[in-house]
Amino acid sequence: MKILLTGGAGYIGSHTAVALVAAGFDPIVLDNFANSHPVVMERLATITGRHIALERGDVLDTPWLEDVLRRHQPVGVVHFAGDKAVGESVALPLKYFHNNIGGAVSLLRAMETVHTENPATAPTLVFSSSATVYGDPATVPITENFPRSHTNPYGHSKLVIEDMLSALRTASPAWRVGVLRYFNPVGAHPSGLIGEDPAGIPNNLMPFVAQVAVGQREHLNVYGDDYPTPDGTGVRDYIHVQDLAAGHVAAIKTLLRQGESFTVNLGTGRGHSVLDVVKAFEAASGKPVPYRVAPRRAGDVAQCWADPALALRLLGWQALHTLDDMCADAWRWQSANPNGYRS
Ligand code: NAD
Ligand code: UFG
Repeated sequence: MKILLTGGAGYIGSHTAVALVAAGFDPIVLDNFANSHPVVMERLATITGRHIALERGDVLDTPWLEDVLRRHQPVGVVHFAGDKAVGESVALPLKYFHNNIGGAVSLLRAMETVHTENPATAPTLVFSSSATVYGDPATVPITENFPRSHTNPYGHSKLVIEDMLSALRTASPAWRVGVLRYFNPVGAHPSGLIGEDPAGIPNNLMPFVAQVAVGQREHLNVYGDDYPTPDGTGVRDYIHVQDLAAGHVAAIKTLLRQGESFTVNLGTGRGHSVLDVVKAFEAASGKPVPYRVAPRRAGDVAQCWADPALALRLLGWQALHTLDDMCADAWRWQSANPNGYRS
């Protein structure tokens, strides 16, 4: 039961590889290490106690992808590979359209070609989408039928790929597609061996807080304390990456078992403010996290959290970890690897 993970050496892909091994699958990591480090493969071997196959290359290379698919004949593919920095996507939109949309087109074409050669197997894909496709939601919690919109080229690329997958399913009903809309993935594997390793200054809250706690940065800028939320700071649905990884296993199993395509939110259904995260991280780490209130960040929404009921109904999945668990595991990873995989 091989599962090909494009972008499998990245943050969410590496945790999913571990969860797949535990569930009896045989993950194959495909990555060009544009935003990850080859040492991840050694860490995965340590955690799982076995060698995990690596295909080093670029998803934009369609003939090579076809070759990978023919050699391994995976029963499913999870497409994580892509660029994900919102701010960078505004500055470099073509990079995002090329790598994210171009990468998805390349993968889908390769899967379609290999399926045509061997029509007995249904092409089976799980796609990493994002709550960013909800734009600025009118209300919370967010259900999957909320209107979609985009406010930056990164979000636009996710929307286009979702639409491409929908058109493909209409044209070729053999396709089985699970679209997973992640809310805010944080935390790390409890071993502290794999975790989020952002390049440069972290854009996201939890890795920034972790770097303040470990003493690498002086203070956190809290982007706005005048939102219409209980303490005035932004509220998000933080989800432990271990729960997210389990969601991928549930998605793959559901697609293989039932063959029905779906689009689901992966979130906890609970919102936490920036200051909730600061307090929980201080408690988990025993370190102070000094902060200063700064102006709102352009493009941020006040609050965003999921209604995760559909994922429970369709996949039998729900998030189990608390914010305290997320902070404890993020801290274990950060303190053991203060410079990420370069430590
Ligand atoms: P990540 O950057 O850690 O992982 C992505 C991996 O893809 C990296 O290892 C990178 O080297 C690889 N990659 C990029 N372009 C490639 C290419 N052309 N060919 C081969 N490999 C390539 O990111 P992540 O946080 O693990 O996110 C995984 C997916 O989930 C992304 O598609 C992202 O947009 C989506 N997502 C992430 C979040 C989040 O907050 N982390 C939220 C919602 C959705
Ligand atoms: N924040 C700060 N200071 C920081 C960083 C963030 O106050 O240094 C605040 C933000 O203003 C927001 C909250 O912390 O209120 C969370 O911000 P993140 O950047 O961690 O997460 P976002 O919700 O803005 O966006 C993330 C990903 C997007 C994805 C979205 C939904 O970056 O790609 O979650 O999945 F689309």
